[in-house]
Amino acid sequence: MKRVRKAVIPVAGMGTRFLPETKAVPKEMLPIVDKPTIQYIVEEAIDSGIEEILFITSPYKKCIEDHFDRSYELENRLIKSGKEAKAKEIEQISKLAKFYYIRQGEPLGSGHAISLAKSFVGDEPFAILYGDDLMYSKNIPVLKQLIEVYDETGASVIGCKRVDMDIISRYGAMSLNEDGTINTIIEKPKKEEAPSNLVGLGRYIVTSEVFDYIDKLPRGIGNEIQFTDAMMNMMKDYKYLPCEFVGTYYDTGSKDGYLKANIEYALRRDDLKDSIRNIINDLN
Ligand code: UTP
Repeated sequence: MKRVRKAVIPVAGMGTRFLPETKAVPKEMLPIVDKPTIQYIVEEAIDSGIEEILFITSPYKKCIEDHFDRSYELENRLIKSGKEAKAKEIEQISKLAKFYYIRQGEPLGSGHAISLAKSFVGDEPFAILYGDDLMYSKNIPVLKQLIEVYDETGASVIGCKRVDMDIISRYGAMSLNEDGTINTIIEKPKKEEAPSNLVGLGRYIVTSEVFDYIDKLPRGIGNEIQFTDAMMNMMKDYKYLPCEFVGTYYDTGSKDGYLKANIEYALRRDDLKDSIRNIINDLN
């Protein structure tokens, strides 16, 4: 069985939930404290054993490419001003992995974005990390938890969590077969129509057959091709397993999810936790 060593990160979406901020600045580049969201996601991939990363990007997201490239002028200036440690830190970002980029000419949906990764992936199993789904894990990185399930079973894997039924309509709710594999996913169901409170969240390991299923999909609502639809068709022929991961999920593409991530990441930092705690206490 082949090892999971490649990852695809689609970042070409329009980020309509975060307008007007996303008009000129990608939501993936918004900082969580002092680091862009996308860097945490790349670091999660690297810490999970990923070696090569393909970004599915767009003409409006050039700064993501710049962020993972060398910045000689900045590095030299930092060195000249005696900030060697900072210069090293900046240089390291470009060395995290081998980075590749493909542009999605039009934002035609997550499935269309992922279909562009076909030649990069070849016949290997690969990881998908959504560029606005941030995962915090104290111990084993969330993607690594999914890879462990893949390594044990050879099945495709979806990162999952159980959520409160009152917010189930924001997510894709799953129904499971008796053997624990995923039977189907109902996107954004009403509370009374949800098959369970187990929802899929922005992390996947899929085998390369998924491209055949994307290719066969018709355009859906808004002319878009949804990745979930391709996985649902593939589930009829191939096993998909849920991985109820240990860790915290933040939807940084939503305003409240983004702000929650900033507060909680700041509270985890020794240099900030006391001052942030004081600010919060002063609000009461
Ligand atoms: P989302 O639906 O969360 O992102 O897609 P979005 O479309 O940018 O956001 P809203 O809903 O309009 O606010 C999940 C992931 O798929 C990428 C997004 O960038 C995000 O990482 N995506 C989505 C693409 O790369 N291309 C697309 O056509 C659509």
